[in-house]
Amino acid sequence: MKKTVAIILCISMMLSLCVSGAAGFNAPKLSQAEWDKLYSSLSDENTLPMLNVGAKAGEVSLCWHADADKADAKVRISEKYSMANAKTFTGEKAEAETEDQVVCRVDITGLEENTTYYYQWYTENGWSEKCEYETKSFGDHKAMVIGDIQIGGQTEDSTVQSMNGYTWNNVLAEALEKNPDISYLVSPGDNTSTGKTADEWQTLLMPPAVRNIPMALAIGNHDKKGMMYNYYTNMPNEFFGEYFEGLDRDFWFRYGDVLYLVFDACSASAADHMAMAKEAVEKNSDAKWRIGVMHQALFGPSVCAFSAETQILLNAVFTPIFDTYDVDLVLTGHSHMQGRSHFMYESMTIGKAESGKTYTDPLGTVYLNTNAICDQNSFEEYEFLNLPYVAYSFGKNDITTYTTLDFKGDTMEIKTMRGDNSELLDSLTIKKTDDNDHNDDSIFKKLHRVLYKVVEFLGWVYLEGDKITVAIRGGHF
Ligand SMILES: [Fe+2]
Repeated sequence: MKKTVAIILCISMMLSLCVSGAAGFNAPKLSQAEWDKLYSSLSDENTLPMLNVGAKAGEVSLCWHADADKADAKVRISEKYSMANAKTFTGEKAEAETEDQVVCRVDITGLEENTTYYYQWYTENGWSEKCEYETKSFGDHKAMVIGDIQIGGQTEDSTVQSMNGYTWNNVLAEALEKNPDISYLVSPGDNTSTGKTADEWQTLLMPPAVRNIPMALAIGNHDKKGMMYNYYTNMPNEFFGEYFEGLDRDFWFRYGDVLYLVFDACSASAADHMAMAKEAVEKNSDAKWRIGVMHQALFGPSVCAFSAETQILLNAVFTPIFDTYDVDLVLTGHSHMQGRSHFMYESMTIGKAESGKTYTDPLGTVYLNTNAICDQNSFEEYEFLNLPYVAYSFGKNDITTYTTLDFKGDTMEIKTMRGDNSELLDSLTIKKTDDNDHNDDSIFKKLHRVLYKVVEFLGWVYLEGDKITVAIRGGHF
């Protein structure tokens, strides 16, 4: 009897997690008391699913933990709430961080654009509650960027985890209410604090909206302190390279006319990063836009940009990749400070990118750095560093922000808003005419590739040294 009541309570609690509102998002802003209730009702769970972006528009995947004895890696999806004519997708079970559970991963393909779907995943109690996923347009579309969600902040204190979860939920709610046309979310990493506990991932997955919006999460240095990222995500086209080890991995995905190259910037394996970019670009040479994603901030608006790691290692490994492949925009985080660069090429400013303006067929790459979710209530105001490459700097890291990328026809509009009230902070529009061909192979690009062989070798030397450092330190920095 007790078990039946517990199951009914559990199901009714989960129901509240999935029923969506207008535009397919169940993204309520919650009061502190409402969040506390949700948090305490779910904090003992370790079964919340992650909705991941797929390899292309019309594809997503689900990844969740289930009891090892009762798990079945299957998801069913229907256009009807009754689940009539549901299509069932099966996937794979893999080992989890503990023996009691397994990780189920299921890819869902063949979805139609602008369609409302209901889906369920298989739990130890049978089919889960029904969640809604509304696809948007597969051509022109809007993406959202939120960085350093970093559940747990700089600590292992669960009180801080809950506080970060509350902020995360309410920024998502604000952003999705004001932008109901968002198709997916990209994060340039540090999704968790220690990278070592299931709790951090469960808190990250608690906001109800997470069930309605596919996410692409890069690996940050905090995630890399442990291995949990490996058990809670299922990113598309994962690239494990020749020299990558452990958690190291890049991935890429395509949505409409946009190709995303997502790097694990904690690995210095230049050869693998370049190989991933080459593979992705060659398979998507027709994509109009190329967006790089990595955690550590290149050309960020704060002193972090002057660390030896950024100035020497990351600059040497990554900027040649972005220059070689004419990447339009690079999304970063790590320094927890919102800012954006001018157009950069070979680590130099080659064109202004003033806020509010439109540029047609510009040369070079814009680097956009995000504020953090985890820094609220830790007010710090950075002095504006008059760096020559910085086009915009927000300067307040305790105020959350989010960025939207609106791809419409031949333009990409980049807008950054406050996470609490959507006040516009910065915008930039890039227009590409048909004449702008980023597949040209100039002598400079050929030279880049030759010189990059030296970086690949030095990256390999660094990698071997880093293995010893990581072993001594017991994890990444
Ligand atoms: Fe970081």
